[in-house]
Formats: sequence, structure tokens, C-alpha cells
Amino acid sequence: MSYYYGSFITCLLLVVFSLCLTANANSFDSLLQLPRRLSHSTRPRPERLLHVGNFGAKGNGLTDDTKAFADSWKTACSSKVKTRILVPANYTYLVRPIDLSGPCKARLTLQISGTIIAPNDPDAWEGFNPRKWLYFHGVSRLTVEGGGTVNGMGQEWWRRSCKHNHSNPCRGAPTALTFHKCKNMRVENLNVIDSQQMHVALTSCRRVTISGLKVIAPSTSPNTDGIHISVSRGIVIDNTTVSTGDDCVSIVKNSSQISISNIVCGPGHGISIGSLGKSKSWEEVKDITVDTAFISDTENGVRIKTWQGGSGLVSKVIFRNIEMNNVSNPIIIDQYYCDSRKPCANQTSAVSIENISFANVRGTSASKEAIKISCSDSSPCRNILLQDIDLELSNGDGLTESFCWEAYGSSSGQVYPPPCLSDETSFLEQSVLDQSDITSAYL
Ligand SMILES: *[C@@H]1O[C@H](CO)[C@@H](O)[C@H](O)[C@H]1NC(C)=O
Ligand SMILES: *[C@@H]1O[C@H](CO)[C@@H](O)[C@H](O)[C@H]1NC(C)=O
Ligand SMILES: *[C@@H]1O[C@H](CO)[C@@H](O)[C@H](O)[C@H]1NC(C)=O
Ligand SMILES: *[C@@H]1O[C@H](CO)[C@@H](O)[C@H](O)[C@H]1NC(C)=O
Ligand SMILES: *[C@@H]1O[C@H](CO)[C@@H](O)[C@H](O)[C@H]1NC(C)=O
Ligand SMILES: *[C@@H]1O[C@H](CO)[C@@H](O)[C@H](O)[C@H]1NC(C)=O
Ligand SMILES: *[C@@H]1O[C@H](CO)[C@@H](O)[C@H](O)[C@H]1NC(C)=O
Repeated sequence: MSYYYGSFITCLLLVVFSLCLTANANSFDSLLQLPRRLSHSTRPRPERLLHVGNFGAKGNGLTDDTKAFADSWKTACSSKVKTRILVPANYTYLVRPIDLSGPCKARLTLQISGTIIAPNDPDAWEGFNPRKWLYFHGVSRLTVEGGGTVNGMGQEWWRRSCKHNHSNPCRGAPTALTFHKCKNMRVENLNVIDSQQMHVALTSCRRVTISGLKVIAPSTSPNTDGIHISVSRGIVIDNTTVSTGDDCVSIVKNSSQISISNIVCGPGHGISIGSLGKSKSWEEVKDITVDTAFISDTENGVRIKTWQGGSGLVSKVIFRNIEMNNVSNPIIIDQYYCDSRKPCANQTSAVSIENISFANVRGTSASKEAIKISCSDSSPCRNILLQDIDLELSNGDGLTESFCWEAYGSSSGQVYPPPCLSDETSFLEQSVLDQSDITSAYL
């Protein structure tokens, strides 16, 4: 006690404050807190750097580096200071299915500058969830960046797919990067290639920004969606390129506030909302904007697809400033979607579709039917807007057409092919008629 007082007084007397601080750092902790806080607000916080090599990762593409990745994640995730895990350039890390779970104590950056590859033998998933490879869950404030590559080595999975060989059972394959229950996350400047199935999946996520993502897989690879969004809200996708064998982006199940801009898509199946309503499910998707897209050599351009028998709602969707090049179904709403081997039975209920606009959509169609709006008899599409559309046949040989079934809405500006929507007031009249039909049937 007397020592502390003595040294404290000496310090004050000598005004050699810095020396004093060093000598009695621990006992003066409480006094030092104020200046420390001030210095924090003016200087960037230091970041802890963890190199996967320090955890034993070899990066030769042959040695199993899973444990090193798991250990570095564990250390980073429990760190109280902002931490960066470095996967360095010019190394290739073989990583088996891995769980990267949160919550973590501080901000975390996973810098993938090198390459991460999956085992190429599907048997490596024995005993693991066959739907996941790099599985992040319960994490917030995570950034994945670095300009490197995540390679799913999907070839053997595709070969065994029931879509390629009908004698094989239909089973799900892993998603390369799954983010489940994530929040305030960023994915920036990353290449994801040859996934076994989907490339990037967001499920139950909030506030995620994806930019500078490049997804590449062969156009023949089955079910290889680029970005799949499910039960998620507040998602921004910008400056992204996707060429795969399935949807560039697919949005399903209770997802909303999704903005997609500056996307290059194709080959593949285009940008899709759905499929929704499978197996009589209730689903809602709303507040979706796709602005500035270049879609080339895809099966569909911008699409909404729902199964018969489902319920729920798709609303407030805007597709604008879209350039199409040789796209088979540039604009398509299909409430009769059926992806099963036997034809789907006709059913009365449907996921409703309303307030959907297509504006400034131009380019070429590989098929005659450039606009197809095929809606349910029991739940017609409402308030569809077509504005400034110009879709010509890609081979220049003939005219394009629109097809509408139970599709209500309006068009403005120049729309080619000529639109075929029924106007909204006729829908209201029709509903009144339907009501009186029912009434008269009972009389
Ligand atoms: C990776 O290799 C390239 C080409 O050999 C070299 O230019 C670059 O500096 C290397 N990067 C790192 C981080 O070692
Ligand atoms: C399809 O799968 C079956 C059973 O797995 C296999 O015997 C057959 O050789 C496969 N066919 C082709 C063309 O790969
Ligand atoms: C877009 O992403 C690429 C990487 O795919 C990056 O090199 C480029 O700087 C990004 N551009 C903008 C404007 O963000
Ligand atoms: C969607 O939300 C509704 C109502 O909030 C809920 O009943 C339903 O289970 C949700 N569906 C999914 C797939 O999350
Ligand atoms: C347009 O797409 C069709 C079918 O997808 C394809 O057969 C054709 O070669 C493509 N045309 C051009 C000019 O690329
Ligand atoms: C469903 O209805 C359509 C149109 O009425 C009809 O052409 C088709 O054969 C029906 N499909 C089945 C499986 O009943
Ligand atoms: C669709 O738009 C109309 C007119 O703006 C509006 O009254 C209606 O509530 C909207 N429906 C949905 C589901 O947002």
C-alpha cells in the first residue's frame, strides 16, 4: 500500500508520467481507461492476423488441411479482437466438409487469396451432411474476401446425378458455401467454381452484401445455382458474374428486400424467383429488384415459377434495365412449373403473383415466345406491368410473340412483341361475374 502511494507521489513530483505508467501499469489501469478509449476512437483498431499455415495447413492440394482450418476458425472466432484468417495466394488447401460456427466474439475476416478445394470423391462425405461442404452458421460480422478461389470439384457428383443418369437415385449434393443464420455479412471479390450443387446459399440471413463474386461451372452441370437465397432479408448483390448449369440467382421461401444489380448471367437458367409452392407449401417473396443485368445464352431470362397447389404471394418485383442475348424465355411467369418426371396433377390453389414490372428489357430471344405469362385459373396474375420492351429473334428470322394466360395488367412505352395482358378492370368485372356464376349455380 505504502509502496503504491510512494511511487504515485514520486511520479507526480517528477512529472515523468510515462515512466511512471510503465512501472505501475497494472495499478493504474483504472486511471488509464479514459485516455485509452480516446486513442481507440482516433486510430484504427489493430487486427489480429492468423495464417492457416501456423495451424499446420500444408496447402499442397493433397494433404488434408481440414483440421488446420477448423483450428484457425476456432481461435479466430473466440478472439476478442478483430481477426483475419489468411488463406494465402499460390497455395491450394484440401478441405473436407467443415462446420464453421458462431457466434464469434469479434469481427472476423476470412481472406481467401489462395485456393480451397473439396475432395473429389463423394465418398468423403460418408458420415457428414451430404448437402454441405463449407458450412458457416450463426455468424455475424463476417467478411469473406481475398480474390482467391473456392473449388467444389463437382465432376464426380454431377456424373452420379439422377439428372445425368436416370438409373441413379435423386439425392442432394453439397453446396460449396452455405451461410445459415448469418447477419451483417459481406462476401467480396471471390471466385467460386465447379460446386457439387449450389455455389453460394444464404438461408435465414439478414443484411448481406455480395459483390465482386464470380461463379463458374459448366452449363451441363446439374442444379448448380449460382446464388440461392432462402428465408432471407436485406440482401444486396452487386457486380457479380454467374455462369452455371442452373439459375444464376434463385430466390425462394419468405425472402424480401433483395437488390441485385450489375450482374452478368449465363449460360444457365437465368434469374429466378422460385420455384415456390412445391408440395402445397406456403411461401412469400416480395420487394425484389433486379436492375442492370446482362443475360446471355440462358434457358430463361427473368422468371417467376410456382408449382400448382402451393399458396402464398409473390409481390413488388421489379426487373429493369435488362439486356438479353439469345435467351430462350426472356420474360417468363409460369404458375404451372413442374420439374418432376411424371406430369404434375392440375390443382386449384396457387401462389398468387401481383405487382410485377418488367421495364427496359431489350435484346434477343432464342425462341419465338419472348414473353410468356402463364398464370393460374384460380389465382390469376395481377398488376403486371410491361414497359419499354424490345425482344427480337436472335437468328433474325421471323417475329417474336407474347403468350398470356390469366394475366392481368398494363403496358406502357413501346412493347415488342405486342403485349397480351388483359386489363385490370376486366379482371374485376370477371371476378364479379364469377361470383354471380357461383351464386346462380346454387339458385
Ligand atoms: C504468387 O505467385 C505469383 C507468380 O509466381 C507471384 O507473382 C506472386 O507474388 C505470388 N504471391 C504470393 C503472395 O506469394
Ligand atoms: C448409370 O448408373 C448405373 C448405376 O449406378 C451404372 O451402372 C451405369 O453404368 C451408369 N450409366 C452411365 C452411362 O454412366
Ligand atoms: C467487380 O468485381 C471484380 C472482381 O470480380 C473486381 O475486380 C472489380 O474491381 C469490381 N468492380 C467494381 C466496380 O466493384
Ligand atoms: C414463412 O412465414 C410464415 C409466416 O410468417 C410462416 O408461417 C412460414 O412457416 C414461413 N415459411 C418458411 C418456409 O419459412
Ligand atoms: C442461341 O441459343 C440456342 C439454344 O439455346 C443455340 O442452339 C444457338 O446456337 C444459340 N445461337 C447463337 C447465335 O449463339
Ligand atoms: C391440366 O389441365 C390442362 C388444361 O385444362 C390439360 O390440358 C391437362 O391435360 C391437365 N393435366 C392433367 C395432368 O390433368
Ligand atoms: C399491389 O399494388 C396495388 C396498387 O399499387 C396495391 O394497392 C396493393 O396493395 C399491392 N399489393 C401488394 C401485395 O403489395
